[in-house]
Amino acid sequence: MSKPKSNNAKTISVALTLCLVCSVLVSAVAVGLKPAQVENARLDRNKNILVAADMYNAESDTAEDVAERFKDFDVEIIDLNKGTYLDDSALADAGIPDRNAYDASQATKNQALSEDLGDNDPAGIGRKPKYAKVYVKKDDAGKPEVVVLPIQGYGLWGTIYGFLTLESDMNTIKGISFYEHKETPGLGARIEEPQWRAKWTGIHSYDENGNVATGVTKAGAPKENWVDGISGATLTSRGVSNMIQFWLGDQGYKPYLDMLRKESGQTIENTDTQANQSTQSKTSTAQPNTELAATLPVANGKEA
Ligand SMILES: Cc1cc2nc3c(=O)[nH]c(=O)nc-3n(C[C@H](O)[C@H](O)[C@H](O)COP(=O)(O)O)c2cc1C
Repeated sequence: MSKPKSNNAKTISVALTLCLVCSVLVSAVAVGLKPAQVENARLDRNKNILVAADMYNAESDTAEDVAERFKDFDVEIIDLNKGTYLDDSALADAGIPDRNAYDASQATKNQALSEDLGDNDPAGIGRKPKYAKVYVKKDDAGKPEVVVLPIQGYGLWGTIYGFLTLESDMNTIKGISFYEHKETPGLGARIEEPQWRAKWTGIHSYDENGNVATGVTKAGAPKENWVDGISGATLTSRGVSNMIQFWLGDQGYKPYLDMLRKESGQTIENTDTQANQSTQSKTSTAQPNTELAATLPVANGKEA
């Protein structure tokens, strides 16, 4: 009668030991892989910065090429409200010990490093970081040639993260990329496709008065300096439109871009319009009802 009891005890003890060994192994592997995951995420982000700057060739570029080309950029932290750069001492005062490690998205979870947007939140991000990280490529004379600006905003299913690149006039869009989102493959996820991203290249961000004058229209309703929305993905297109307008506006990078333009003695010149709006009509005029920017994102403020 005692035999089965002892067998049960043995079985349980073997099972427990196995569980313990397995959980230790899984934890060890997870901890061991963490640095590789962080490094891969960093490489992917840097690749997407180059994609937005039109400096990446998907067919031929290796991880080494990305690392090498990324060295062309200065990593700067800016005060979004003032539009100014933070030097090392200002960074220390702001509680940012390492500019490279600073993550503006994470900063939105820190009360001291972010501001509640309340009802004034068209991009649906909830809180805005006080400081943003930007990537600046300078020409031989030390003037900004290209600036890559991180952007984020709510799509249909979650927050979309990307980069928007402006040329040296701080007005003409050089490129755009999206590197993280929850939109549906074949519908909203088409924002990642090179054909759709190419529609942004060459269009102007601001009108002559310095007001944001770009965004996404309804599919098939062309408008100068606006990008045609994705058919069947109106809600994602609207999310992208809202985020672009937010980040180019007063709450976003406008003070910084104004400062850069002023520093280099430039004004907004839109006389040389439409360098590369291949799919949009140059003869079309304003069609306010076709704009997708007016409605707030579905899940406004749910995710930062
Ligand atoms: C399973 C499923 C996934 C969808 N995913 C998206 C999406 O990622 N982005 C989007 O804008 N619309 C998506 N939609 C469609 C929207 O519900 C909505 O119909 C669409 O945005 C309207 O666009 P349209 O006016 O261009 O037809 C999805 C619909 C279904 C049923």
